[in-house]
Amino acid sequence: MDKIIIRGGKKLTGTVRMSGSKNAALPILIASLLTDDECIIDNVPALADIDTTIRFLTYIGKKIVMRGSTVTVRSHGRLKPTAPYDLVRKMRASTLVMGPLLGRLGRVSVSLPGGCAIGARPIDIHLESFVKMGAEITLTCGYVKTIAPCLSGAHIHFRYPSVGATENVLLAAVLAKGTTIIENAAREPEIVDLADVLNKMGASVTGAGSKKITVRGVKKLQGFRHSVIPDRIETATYVIAAAATRGDVTVTHTNPRHVAAVLSHLKRAGAGVQCTNDTIRVVWKKPLKPVTVTTAVFPGFPTDVQAQWMTLMSLVHGKSSIRETVFENRFLHVAELQRLGANIHIKGNTVQVTGVKNISGAPVMASDLRAGAALVIAGLIAEGRTEVLRVYHLDRGYEHLEKKLRTLGADIRRVAQ
Ligand code: UD1
Repeated sequence: MDKIIIRGGKKLTGTVRMSGSKNAALPILIASLLTDDECIIDNVPALADIDTTIRFLTYIGKKIVMRGSTVTVRSHGRLKPTAPYDLVRKMRASTLVMGPLLGRLGRVSVSLPGGCAIGARPIDIHLESFVKMGAEITLTCGYVKTIAPCLSGAHIHFRYPSVGATENVLLAAVLAKGTTIIENAAREPEIVDLADVLNKMGASVTGAGSKKITVRGVKKLQGFRHSVIPDRIETATYVIAAAATRGDVTVTHTNPRHVAAVLSHLKRAGAGVQCTNDTIRVVWKKPLKPVTVTTAVFPGFPTDVQAQWMTLMSLVHGKSSIRETVFENRFLHVAELQRLGANIHIKGNTVQVTGVKNISGAPVMASDLRAGAALVIAGLIAEGRTEVLRVYHLDRGYEHLEKKLRTLGADIRRVAQ
């Protein structure tokens, strides 16, 4: 198990290129199950979750080659309609194979994902939607067996705009008989990217990016070539790190519109923010002001940036609060930030932050991907040496993290334990 060692106190300055979006690449890779044709996906980040997905698709029956950031998926015999526990427990997004495999094979058996560090994360909205589309579902031995010899379009109203459920239903509906309408759909950019891919494959998806998505089922889909959108959570992490270290960083190959909520909070805090079509420059000009955030679905402030924002606010003079509304248990980083000297307290789904002058380095443990990012930012501003343990969480979502931070002037390295 590796650990990351940071000597804090260096301002981040310079230019850093963003990778392709992990959360967009995962469903797009899985969309390749909808066809036997070749699918070519560019701008795929080299991450542990992508490796897991590639292993998973190989298990199901695809032949995959990754060269640089381009992944080519080809057919390789018959598809297997199963997602075993070993793969699902490594990556919850594996449950997204339900949609395409139901559409193509009329049946699929997926290990039920357990809870995870940030909450229970059920998949009831996915399953209720498949039932509406004519599927029969049974739960045996930890596996959800779904059978739908003739998957049909349906009018589905989500009780919550779940990202995963929207993607799963889209992936099922494109090959279903008739029209599917999803009301209260998720509007995240990753949904729009997936819909773009499905339309390139010959599907008829309209309304992605709005609350109502309409899918007219087709009989067959074809191969595609697509470049994945930039990672908006990686982008938000670097711009927050820039402000936290009192630096001056230009993030390139990104989409400022996808992080508008984070940038507007940064501006309110007093950071200088300048955008072009695909770059963002964040400059620290003067001591920041405390700014309260409430996480929300897109276009609101992303839950995946909540922990990083908490680190930023921990060193801003004054009081702010951070309310988490998307996941019920996403404050595991609080205790670790407290160990570094942050003055933060949890009250229900809200954390009260009172800014301190300094934090000091210590060994800390990443509990999940974004908590890990928050601890790395904390290490960059802490006095002395911070060791971040359980780096494998970071490897799930940040491509070349230490290398990119080193380019910006950070004193950060990875060592094998
Ligand atoms: C995706 C992202 C994750 C992000 C999250 C919210 C991927 C691979 N992951 O996760 O990084 O934090 O969106 O932006 O894209 N829920 C239910 N029943 C369901 C489905 C979800 O109750 O059937 C609840 C969840 O427990 C959670 C909330 O809805 O509290 C949001 O979940 P969802 O939008 O589905 O997130 P994911 O797709 O799992």
